[in-house]
Amino acid sequence: MTDNYFLFEGIQMLSGFHSVESLSFAQNFLVKDDDVIIVSYPRSGTHWMIEMVSLIVSKGDPTWVQSVKNSARCPGIDSKDWQKLLLDQDGPRLMSTHLPLQLFPKSYFTSSAKIIYVIRNPRDVVTSNYHISKHFHPLKNQKTFDEHLRAFIQGDVAYGSWFDHTLGWITRRDTENFLLMSYEALQRDLRGSMQKVCQFLGKHLTPEQLDSAVQNLSFSVMKENRMSNSIMLRNSKDGTVSNIPLLRKGICGDWKNLFTVAQSEAFDRVYQEKMSRLDPDLFPWSKSC
Ligand code: A3P
Repeated sequence: MTDNYFLFEGIQMLSGFHSVESLSFAQNFLVKDDDVIIVSYPRSGTHWMIEMVSLIVSKGDPTWVQSVKNSARCPGIDSKDWQKLLLDQDGPRLMSTHLPLQLFPKSYFTSSAKIIYVIRNPRDVVTSNYHISKHFHPLKNQKTFDEHLRAFIQGDVAYGSWFDHTLGWITRRDTENFLLMSYEALQRDLRGSMQKVCQFLGKHLTPEQLDSAVQNLSFSVMKENRMSNSIMLRNSKDGTVSNIPLLRKGICGDWKNLFTVAQSEAFDRVYQEKMSRLDPDLFPWSKSC
């Protein structure tokens, strides 16, 4: 583990974003019944969902997404930068996190706050993660993809194992205040996915408002929007902040351009071992990766 990470309850956390205090704050954070929380493993489509929910709240009017940064519209519960903003925010509050179930605010479990959990084919998650990791590490510290994939499979990465994250959160799937959404569903049917999220949130948009929202959710429009296409990085050593582009390729199946046959077979073996007890129909990538 490098200086960029530290362990919290056995899970790797990012020194630039987290501290023991910020993670304890998150665990003890008082969730309110009208809160909406977007939860995901990193690089699963979190910010696409943040944009969707923002556009639902603003009834398809893009003014808010064009004038306020995604991280301020939907602050991270566990991030040391945004916790004060969350406390000061009027309800209903929007927030997001990549925390695994066991590190999530305890008060949620007795509240009726709503969670949208976004999943994505883990092969595309690790591919997206690998490409973006080049922004995090000085060239000499960069892992090869093979090293990166091994670390991902072992859960030796920020926020821990994808398998544990997914297996943990998916146990909530039959709860009334939990909506499971996938990146693949957004790709397949953005408008239909948005209607599903509207229904879950008890919101109604007119056809014209939906059209405007769908247009502003497209890859090309989000890529051009500086308020949406950036994530903040903080250097854990000197505290300096930089912004890197969030949107990269925006497709399903990019993993096929990176995995070798041997890597793909090794990944499938682990996937089968860890996930076979769940109904494969829960995961859109089970039919075709
Ligand atoms: P890629 O790196 O595969 O392109 P997160 O928000 O969880 O960090 O996820 C980032 C991933 O979502 C990136 O995937 C990014 O390009 C993709 N993404 C974000 N907005 C998107 C959009 N409007 N359409 C398609 N993909 C989008």
